[in-house]
Amino acid sequence: MRVALVTGASRGLGREIARALARAGYVVAANYLTAEAEAQETVSMIGTGSFAVRADVGDPAQVLDMRRLIEKRCGRLDVIVSNAGIARDDLLVRQSEKDWDDVIETNLTGSFNVIRLLSPLMVQSGGGHIVTISSRAGHAGKAGQAAYSAAKAGLLGVTRTAAVELAADNIRVNAVLPGYLMTEMGKSAERAADAAKKASLLNRLSDPKEVAGFIAFLVGTEGVTGQVFSIDSRP
Ligand SMILES: NC(=O)c1ccc[n+]([C@@H]2O[C@H](COP(=O)([O-])OP(=O)(O)OC[C@H]3O[C@@H](n4cnc5c(N)ncnc54)[C@H](OP(=O)(O)O)[C@@H]3O)[C@@H](O)[C@H]2O)c1
Repeated sequence: MRVALVTGASRGLGREIARALARAGYVVAANYLTAEAEAQETVSMIGTGSFAVRADVGDPAQVLDMRRLIEKRCGRLDVIVSNAGIARDDLLVRQSEKDWDDVIETNLTGSFNVIRLLSPLMVQSGGGHIVTISSRAGHAGKAGQAAYSAAKAGLLGVTRTAAVELAADNIRVNAVLPGYLMTEMGKSAERAADAAKKASLLNRLSDPKEVAGFIAFLVGTEGVTGQVFSIDSRP
């Protein structure tokens, strides 16, 4: 049995990643924060002994509880996809400290918590693969996204550092940057979606299923770590 944790798997990209990993043969722990019914829906779509697990990735105690549950149910962990994320867009001069803190806590500290508290279970399992979900915003500026951009840029630093530190334990760590996705997050900024489509070479947005399929392929590789992959047609 191979086991994968996908954070933020109640909808959007996380749900598609959970489905793609289940198709690849993984038992999936589908993490969520508030949307229990939707997370259960993800699980019922994939079956194969998968289960939903509630935890706020920004809270180390809850992440440790999640680790204990996975260890109790499965005894091992082979893949982590750190996907949970939020956006609270506003111009820099108007951004509240609360929104800044929330975005950093979920998108950056959340991945830090998940990697530092769950990678020891992967070490016990003989190694594995960690994928973080960053964004184009992590290396390109966009009005209204100071907090999101800072978190996603920081996440690239965490990813590369984890790749260096965990290589000796046979844990590969890579970042995936989806293009604009028409998920709940993407739908909240329709004008940005139009602009992203126009700026793409193929006049299209990213497809969550395609991004998820790429991740399912990536975690099956043995010799790839410390890399950043854009799954997008925007130059
Ligand atoms: N949408 C885009 O255009 C786009 C582009 C590039 C990168 N991304 C990144 O892709 C990832 C997925 O985005 P999406 O578009 O699928 O977003 P989404 O539809 O808004 O889904 C976000 C998911 O994250 C979960 N979540 C939020 N805060 C959490 C927390 N503190 N702890 C645990 N889970 C939490 C939500 O769970 P609940 O429903 O239970 O609250 C939900 O399952 C994010 O990291 C995002 O930044 C998105």
